[in-house]
Amino acid sequence: MSFKEQLDLINLPQHVAIIMDGNGRWAKERGYDRIYGHQHGVTSVRECTEAAAEIGLKYLTLYAFSTENWNRDQKEVEALMELLIDTIERETPTLDKNNIRLKAIGDLSRLPQGAYEKLKRCIEHTKTNTGLCLVLALSYSSRWEICNALRHIAQEVKDGKLSTDEITDEIISNHLTTNEIPDPDLMIRTSGEIRISNFLLWQLAYTELYFTSTHWPDFRKENFFEAIVEFQKRERRFGK
Ligand code: IPE
Ligand code: IPE
Ligand code: MG
Repeated sequence: MSFKEQLDLINLPQHVAIIMDGNGRWAKERGYDRIYGHQHGVTSVRECTEAAAEIGLKYLTLYAFSTENWNRDQKEVEALMELLIDTIERETPTLDKNNIRLKAIGDLSRLPQGAYEKLKRCIEHTKTNTGLCLVLALSYSSRWEICNALRHIAQEVKDGKLSTDEITDEIISNHLTTNEIPDPDLMIRTSGEIRISNFLLWQLAYTELYFTSTHWPDFRKENFFEAIVEFQKRERRFGK
Protein backbone atom coordinates (compact mmCIF):
# COMPACT_ATOMS: atom_id res chain seq x y z
CA MET A 1 0.00 0.00 0.00
CA SER A 2 1.39 3.41 -0.90
CA PHE A 3 1.91 6.04 1.79
CA LYS A 4 -0.78 8.12 0.15
CA GLU A 5 -3.27 5.29 0.65
CA GLN A 6 -2.21 4.97 4.29
CA LEU A 7 -3.11 8.59 5.06
CA ASP A 8 -5.97 9.28 7.42
CA LEU A 9 -7.60 12.11 5.52
CA ILE A 10 -9.68 13.32 8.46
CA ASN A 11 -6.66 13.70 10.74
CA LEU A 12 -4.37 15.75 8.54
CA PRO A 13 -1.94 18.35 9.82
CA GLN A 14 -3.10 21.85 9.08
CA HIS A 15 0.37 23.20 8.52
CA VAL A 16 3.53 21.39 7.38
CA ALA A 17 6.88 23.20 7.35
CA ILE A 18 9.99 21.92 5.57
CA ILE A 19 13.70 22.67 5.88
CA MET A 20 14.74 21.78 2.35
CA ASP A 21 18.31 20.65 2.91
CA GLY A 22 20.97 18.67 1.05
CA ASN A 23 21.03 20.19 -2.43
CA GLY A 24 24.79 20.76 -2.30
CA ARG A 25 25.61 17.25 -1.10
CA TRP A 26 23.24 15.71 -3.63
CA ALA A 27 25.07 17.51 -6.47
CA LYS A 28 28.52 16.76 -5.06
CA GLU A 29 27.73 13.03 -4.87
CA ARG A 30 27.05 13.20 -8.60
CA GLY A 31 30.19 15.18 -9.38
CA TYR A 32 28.35 18.43 -10.09
CA ASP A 33 28.38 21.96 -8.79
CA ARG A 34 26.10 22.83 -5.83
CA ILE A 35 23.92 24.95 -8.11
CA TYR A 36 22.94 21.83 -10.06
CA GLY A 37 21.48 20.52 -6.80
CA HIS A 38 19.45 23.69 -6.27
CA GLN A 39 18.09 23.42 -9.80
CA HIS A 40 16.93 19.88 -9.13
CA GLY A 41 15.45 20.96 -5.82
CA VAL A 42 12.81 22.91 -7.75
CA THR A 43 11.20 19.61 -8.84
CA SER A 44 10.85 18.63 -5.19
CA VAL A 45 9.27 21.99 -4.39
CA ARG A 46 6.72 21.36 -7.14
CA GLU A 47 6.07 17.79 -5.96
CA CYS A 48 5.47 18.80 -2.35
CA THR A 49 3.29 21.74 -3.30
CA GLU A 50 1.17 19.48 -5.51
CA ALA A 51 1.05 16.78 -2.84
CA ALA A 52 -0.07 19.29 -0.20
CA ALA A 53 -2.74 20.72 -2.51
CA GLU A 54 -3.91 17.23 -3.51
CA ILE A 55 -4.78 16.21 0.04
CA GLY A 56 -6.14 19.62 0.99
CA LEU A 57 -3.52 20.94 3.42
CA LYS A 58 -4.10 24.52 4.48
CA TYR A 59 -0.46 25.68 4.85
CA LEU A 60 2.90 24.55 3.52
CA THR A 61 5.95 26.54 4.58
CA LEU A 62 9.23 26.02 2.73
CA TYR A 63 12.53 27.28 4.10
CA ALA A 64 14.17 28.40 0.88
CA PHE A 65 16.87 30.80 2.01
CA SER A 66 18.07 31.77 5.47
CA THR A 67 19.54 35.04 6.71
CA GLU A 68 22.80 33.13 7.21
CA ASN A 69 22.70 31.88 3.62
CA TRP A 70 23.61 35.44 2.49
CA ASN A 71 27.11 34.57 3.70
CA ARG A 72 27.54 31.85 1.10
CA ASP A 73 29.70 32.23 -1.97
CA GLN A 74 28.50 35.19 -4.05
CA LYS A 75 28.05 33.01 -7.12
CA GLU A 76 25.84 30.55 -5.26
CA VAL A 77 23.70 33.37 -3.81
CA GLU A 78 23.26 34.92 -7.24
CA ALA A 79 22.33 31.58 -8.79
CA LEU A 80 19.79 30.93 -6.03
CA MET A 81 18.19 34.35 -6.52
CA GLU A 82 17.99 33.82 -10.25
CA LEU A 83 16.45 30.40 -9.75
CA LEU A 84 13.94 31.95 -7.42
CA ILE A 85 12.85 34.61 -9.91
CA ASP A 86 12.62 32.13 -12.79
CA THR A 87 10.67 29.61 -10.76
CA ILE A 88 8.20 32.12 -9.37
CA GLU A 89 7.60 33.59 -12.79
CA ARG A 90 7.19 30.19 -14.43
CA GLU A 91 4.98 28.70 -11.72
CA THR A 92 2.61 31.63 -11.10
CA PRO A 93 -0.02 30.43 -13.63
CA THR A 94 0.08 26.90 -12.18
CA LEU A 95 -0.28 28.19 -8.62
CA ASP A 96 -3.20 30.29 -9.72
CA LYS A 97 -4.85 27.44 -11.62
CA ASN A 98 -4.61 25.26 -8.53
CA ASN A 99 -6.14 27.94 -6.28
CA ILE A 100 -2.86 28.29 -4.34
CA ARG A 101 -2.00 31.52 -2.53
CA LEU A 102 1.64 32.51 -2.22
CA LYS A 103 3.01 34.25 0.85
CA ALA A 104 6.55 35.13 1.86
CA ILE A 105 8.13 35.59 5.28
CA GLY A 106 11.58 37.00 5.96
CA ASP A 107 13.64 40.13 5.49
CA LEU A 108 12.48 40.69 1.91
CA SER A 109 14.18 44.10 1.81
CA ARG A 110 17.47 42.27 1.33
CA LEU A 111 16.35 40.55 -1.88
CA PRO A 112 17.63 41.93 -5.18
CA GLN A 113 15.09 44.35 -6.65
CA GLY A 114 14.12 42.05 -9.53
CA ALA A 115 13.48 39.08 -7.26
CA TYR A 116 11.52 41.23 -4.85
CA GLU A 117 9.28 42.63 -7.58
CA LYS A 118 8.51 39.26 -9.16
CA LEU A 119 7.76 37.83 -5.76
CA LYS A 120 5.39 40.70 -4.90
CA ARG A 121 3.68 40.32 -8.26
CA CYS A 122 3.02 36.62 -7.69
CA ILE A 123 1.75 37.27 -4.15
CA GLU A 124 -0.57 39.97 -5.46
CA HIS A 125 -1.74 37.77 -8.34
CA THR A 126 -2.67 34.84 -6.09
CA LYS A 127 -3.91 36.70 -3.01
CA THR A 128 -7.61 35.89 -3.45
CA ASN A 129 -7.02 32.14 -3.90
CA THR A 130 -8.63 30.04 -1.20
CA GLY A 131 -6.83 26.67 -1.43
CA LEU A 132 -3.36 25.86 -0.09
CA CYS A 133 -1.34 28.76 1.28
CA LEU A 134 2.27 28.28 0.20
CA VAL A 135 4.61 30.21 2.47
CA LEU A 136 8.17 30.84 1.28
CA ALA A 137 10.67 31.60 4.02
CA LEU A 138 13.15 33.81 2.20
CA SER A 139 16.00 35.69 3.77
CA TYR A 140 14.35 34.38 6.91
CA SER A 141 15.73 33.57 10.30
CA SER A 142 13.83 33.13 13.49
CA ARG A 143 16.13 35.34 15.56
CA TRP A 144 15.80 38.14 13.01
CA GLU A 145 12.03 37.76 13.23
CA ILE A 146 11.97 37.75 17.03
CA CYS A 147 14.26 40.82 17.22
CA ASN A 148 11.97 42.60 14.82
CA ALA A 149 8.89 41.70 16.85
CA LEU A 150 10.57 42.89 20.06
CA ARG A 151 11.49 46.20 18.47
CA HIS A 152 7.86 46.76 17.49
CA ILE A 153 6.52 45.73 20.88
CA ALA A 154 9.03 47.98 22.67
CA GLN A 155 7.98 50.88 20.48
CA GLU A 156 4.31 50.30 21.31
CA VAL A 157 5.15 50.26 25.02
CA LYS A 158 7.17 53.45 24.62
CA ASP A 159 4.27 55.10 22.80
CA GLY A 160 1.89 54.10 25.60
CA LYS A 161 -0.19 51.81 23.35
CA LEU A 162 0.67 48.70 25.33
CA SER A 163 1.66 48.09 28.95
CA THR A 164 4.35 45.54 29.88
CA ASP A 165 1.87 43.20 31.58
CA GLU A 166 -0.19 43.10 28.42
CA ILE A 167 2.68 41.30 26.64
CA THR A 168 1.43 37.74 26.27
CA ASP A 169 2.12 34.73 24.04
CA GLU A 170 -0.60 35.99 21.76
CA ILE A 171 0.83 39.52 21.51
CA ILE A 172 4.24 38.09 20.60
CA SER A 173 2.74 35.70 18.02
CA ASN A 174 0.83 38.60 16.50
CA HIS A 175 4.06 40.52 15.96
CA LEU A 176 5.80 37.70 14.13
CA THR A 177 5.80 37.45 10.32
CA THR A 178 3.63 34.34 10.70
CA ASN A 179 0.85 36.25 12.48
CA GLU A 180 -1.92 35.00 10.19
CA ILE A 181 -0.61 31.43 10.07
CA PRO A 182 -1.24 28.68 12.63
CA ASP A 183 1.87 27.05 14.14
CA PRO A 184 3.18 24.07 12.15
CA ASP A 185 1.88 20.66 13.22
CA LEU A 186 4.71 18.87 11.47
CA MET A 187 8.23 19.99 10.56
CA ILE A 188 10.27 17.95 8.10
CA ARG A 189 14.03 18.32 7.58
CA THR A 190 15.73 16.44 4.76
CA SER A 191 19.33 15.33 4.34
CA GLY A 192 20.08 13.90 7.76
CA GLU A 193 20.90 16.99 9.81
CA ILE A 194 19.13 16.92 13.18
CA ARG A 195 18.87 20.64 13.88
CA ILE A 196 16.53 23.60 13.44
CA SER A 197 18.99 26.12 11.91
CA ASN A 198 17.16 29.26 13.03
CA PHE A 199 13.79 28.23 11.57
CA LEU A 200 10.50 29.16 13.32
CA LEU A 201 11.94 28.80 16.84
CA TRP A 202 8.86 30.26 18.53
CA GLN A 203 6.31 28.59 16.27
CA LEU A 204 7.78 25.06 16.59
CA ALA A 205 7.13 24.91 20.35
CA TYR A 206 4.78 21.88 20.05
CA THR A 207 5.44 20.81 16.49
CA GLU A 208 6.20 17.15 15.70
CA LEU A 209 9.67 16.90 14.15
CA TYR A 210 10.52 14.48 11.35
CA PHE A 211 14.05 13.97 10.04
CA THR A 212 14.96 11.97 6.96
CA SER A 213 18.30 11.22 5.35
CA THR A 214 16.84 11.75 1.86
CA HIS A 215 18.44 14.74 0.15
CA TRP A 216 15.99 17.44 -0.91
CA PRO A 217 16.37 16.91 -4.70
CA ASP A 218 15.28 13.27 -4.21
CA PHE A 219 12.26 14.13 -2.05
CA ARG A 220 9.03 13.17 -3.82
CA LYS A 221 5.30 13.08 -3.08
CA GLU A 222 5.57 9.65 -1.49
CA ASN A 223 8.30 10.91 0.88
CA PHE A 224 6.00 13.76 1.84
CA PHE A 225 3.08 11.41 2.48
CA GLU A 226 5.36 9.06 4.43
CA ALA A 227 6.21 11.91 6.82
CA ILE A 228 2.51 12.63 7.36
CA VAL A 229 1.75 8.93 7.96
CA GLU A 230 4.50 8.95 10.62
CA PHE A 231 3.03 12.16 12.10
CA GLN A 232 -0.36 10.46 12.35
CA LYS A 233 1.14 7.69 14.50
CA ARG A 234 2.40 10.17 17.08
CA GLU A 235 0.54 11.15 20.21
CA ARG A 236 0.56 14.89 20.75
CA ARG A 237 0.18 15.92 24.37
CA PHE A 238 0.88 19.66 24.51
CA GLY A 239 2.17 19.24 28.06
CA LYS A 240 -1.12 17.77 29.31
C1 IPE B 1 19.57 23.53 0.93
O1 IPE B 1 20.65 22.81 0.47
C2 IPE B 1 19.27 24.76 0.10
C3 IPE B 1 19.62 26.03 0.74
C4 IPE B 1 20.07 26.19 1.96
C5 IPE B 1 19.44 27.23 -0.06
P1 IPE B 1 22.14 23.19 0.87
O2 IPE B 1 22.64 24.18 -0.11
O3 IPE B 1 22.21 23.60 2.29
O4 IPE B 1 22.88 21.80 0.65
P2 IPE B 1 23.92 21.09 1.62
O5 IPE B 1 23.31 21.09 2.99
O6 IPE B 1 25.17 21.88 1.56
O7 IPE B 1 24.07 19.72 1.07
C1 IPE C 1 18.89 25.66 6.48
O1 IPE C 1 19.84 24.91 5.83
C2 IPE C 1 18.38 26.76 5.58
C3 IPE C 1 17.59 26.34 4.43
C4 IPE C 1 17.25 25.12 4.13
C5 IPE C 1 17.14 27.41 3.57
P1 IPE C 1 21.40 25.21 5.94
O2 IPE C 1 22.07 24.18 5.14
O3 IPE C 1 21.66 26.62 5.61
O4 IPE C 1 21.67 25.00 7.51
P2 IPE C 1 22.95 24.48 8.27
O5 IPE C 1 24.08 25.36 7.86
O6 IPE C 1 23.17 23.05 7.86
O7 IPE C 1 22.60 24.57 9.73
MG1 MG D 1 22.50 22.64 4.04
